[in-house]
Amino acid sequence: MAISDLLTVSNRHQFPLPDFQNGDEIRFPGALVSALLDRFTKPGDVVFDPFVGLGTTFFVCEQRGRLPYGIEADRQRYEWVRERITAKHHLICGDSAELTAFDLPEMDFCITSPPYMPHWHKWNPLYNGDPDYDGYDVYLKRMQEIYGRICKRMKTDAYLVVQADNLTSEQFSPLVWDLGRALSEVMTLEGEIMVNWSDAVENGNPFTQCLVFRNTGA
Ligand SMILES: C[S@@+](CC[C@H](N)C(=O)[O-])C[C@H]1O[C@@H](n2cnc3c(N)ncnc32)[C@H](O)[C@@H]1O
Repeated sequence: MAISDLLTVSNRHQFPLPDFQNGDEIRFPGALVSALLDRFTKPGDVVFDPFVGLGTTFFVCEQRGRLPYGIEADRQRYEWVRERITAKHHLICGDSAELTAFDLPEMDFCITSPPYMPHWHKWNPLYNGDPDYDGYDVYLKRMQEIYGRICKRMKTDAYLVVQADNLTSEQFSPLVWDLGRALSEVMTLEGEIMVNWSDAVENGNPFTQCLVFRNTGA
């Protein structure tokens, strides 16, 4: 059965943003992670986040009795999260494209919010702006490669959720649709969950989207 759902969850955050973010809110809210853990996992499950950011997946998994693993490229964010979690050795500082080099267990579930890129930008966040890897096509291809590698670490039929927004600053950029198309080359797209934020949003979208994939080996 395809997944097509609507959720309403709080977009409040458990912790204030660290000063080094200079007000740049990159996190998804804990209530969203919690709702998705309820739906797709059970206590004791192993959960992977390839783009840990400021650690929401880790914090919620530890509160909810799931075992989080994850990778974060930015050392400052990595260290900030590491100080606040119990499973310190489950958090890796590195490039998620290199995940085959890391000692990771087989995962029951994967959830993340990837670095966003509008189609009209050159600066590719997956390569930290390295000009040799400029451009949206390179970004989408790299996301596809990363998820191809993640799937090799996932249990068969495990779910993988990618939370993203279509971008609306300056011009509309259909990131969710493009990620859906690119990533369905390496996983099966089972559907989408539309998420309505229950608290007022000052800047940005009043809702977000979660693409739900399954590791069917397709
Ligand atoms: C949107 S944020 C994730 C936010 C996270 N869900 C949270 O709630 O804090 C994306 C993160 O991916 C990291 N990142 C970018 N490229 C990466 C890569 N190649 N490997 C691992 N992490 C990467 C960025 O540094 C950023 O912290």
